Amino acid sequence: MFITLEGIEGTGKSTQLKLMAEYLESRGQDVLLTREPGGSDLGRELRRMLLHMDSQGMAPTAELFLYLADRAQHVAQVIRPALEAGKWVISDRFADSTVVYQGYGRGLDPKLLHSLNAVAVDGLWPEMTILLDLDPETGLNRALARNLREGKSREEGRFEAEALDFHRRVREGYLTWAALHPDRFRLVDGKETPEVVFQRVRDLLEPHLP
Ligand code: TMP
Repeated sequence: MFITLEGIEGTGKSTQLKLMAEYLESRGQDVLLTREPGGSDLGRELRRMLLHMDSQGMAPTAELFLYLADRAQHVAQVIRPALEAGKWVISDRFADSTVVYQGYGRGLDPKLLHSLNAVAVDGLWPEMTILLDLDPETGLNRALARNLREGKSREEGRFEAEALDFHRRVREGYLTWAALHPDRFRLVDGKETPEVVFQRVRDLLEPHLP
């Protein structure tokens, strides 16, 4: 079973990812947690390039192709082999992030991005995508507070330093894109406490357990 988790910064994706793995393992399942960018060896190099503040001057199309390269390698080296070995694979972000951030956020054509994603994923689409929805003000405040806690500067992390406007477009983009793919997307309100959010996520996993 291949599940992806999506949402703007600060929605609590990492917390939910851990809770999901603990729950599935307690039910006897083999789980692989992974993420984009950075789910493979090549991807970790690409993540460093993509998320470093110095990459501010990167052309949007150059950035796009790095995300796609990360995804192609991630699918080939990590996701497909794990699924073939019978594991649950849960990825913190996947193809939808490209459509939403590079498309709705940066203005590239979402339909074109979807076609390019199809090349990168080579037929391997998630069976379920959980969208943790949150207003960008709350999300960014959480993300900035986390950076402070972790001793990073408030502005560290390229995306978190983006204008609120960008994050509003991203949030709306997620909602639009999710509405276009109702078969796969499940919307969860990220404003609740992690425990309450997880109850909802667990309800989504339950029917897929043997
Ligand atoms: P995160 O995984 O720590 O949330 O950070 C990854 C950042 O990269 C996040 O701001 C979203 C962005 N991103 C894209 O813009 N396009 C993509 O395709 C992916 C996977 C991530």
